Amino acid sequence: MGSLVDHCFAATSFQLAALAAYCHVNAAKSIVLIGMMGAGKSSVGRCLQRRTGLARVDIDEIVAANFGMQIVQIFEKHGEQKFRDAETEALGKVAPDRPAIIVTGGGIVLRSENVDLLKQLGKVVWLTADEATLFERASRRDDRPLLQKENPRATFSDLFRTREPHYAAASDFRVNTSGKTHDEVAETILSNLEELSGLPK
Ligand code: S3P
Repeated sequence: MGSLVDHCFAATSFQLAALAAYCHVNAAKSIVLIGMMGAGKSSVGRCLQRRTGLARVDIDEIVAANFGMQIVQIFEKHGEQKFRDAETEALGKVAPDRPAIIVTGGGIVLRSENVDLLKQLGKVVWLTADEATLFERASRRDDRPLLQKENPRATFSDLFRTREPHYAAASDFRVNTSGKTHDEVAETILSNLEELSGLPK
């Protein structure tokens, strides 16, 4: 147990440098990840957490914990509308006292009040890939209620088309995740944020 705790909490000098650099250029700004199912938000969020040492807040995890059940069960028992209300409520309560990594569910951009909240939290990063890649990744797991349909590919295509403009409008910048590891995406995000700050690396 001791070694696990050490492993999780002992910050490496790399982490400390990344954290110091991030906090320096982005005072009180969290990194908010948005994008379609399959974009890699959760995994990239974990990489960013590891690289910066910042806390990670996952809206889907909060909603699931509040209901005491998995997202797929929330959809089954209470319907999508209740899930969306809980998602907005959970997002509204996120108020980190220092920058954090905020991971969101793919549909969070559908409500403009959510987008306002996301923008207030920090820099909003849209993780993208082409539709086929996103669908292939998203369908590796069978716990996505919106894809448990007779024709999940067509459903995904509809969602993709409807949501793209929302992601574009909500985000400060986008990162193409195709052909990149999660860690490479995290690195790209951090270097884009440094560039945005206008400070030399
Ligand atoms: C959803 C995406 C899911 C989850 C819920 C709804 C969506 O999160 O919030 O199933 O509407 O796209 P991921 O994007 O992490 O799969």
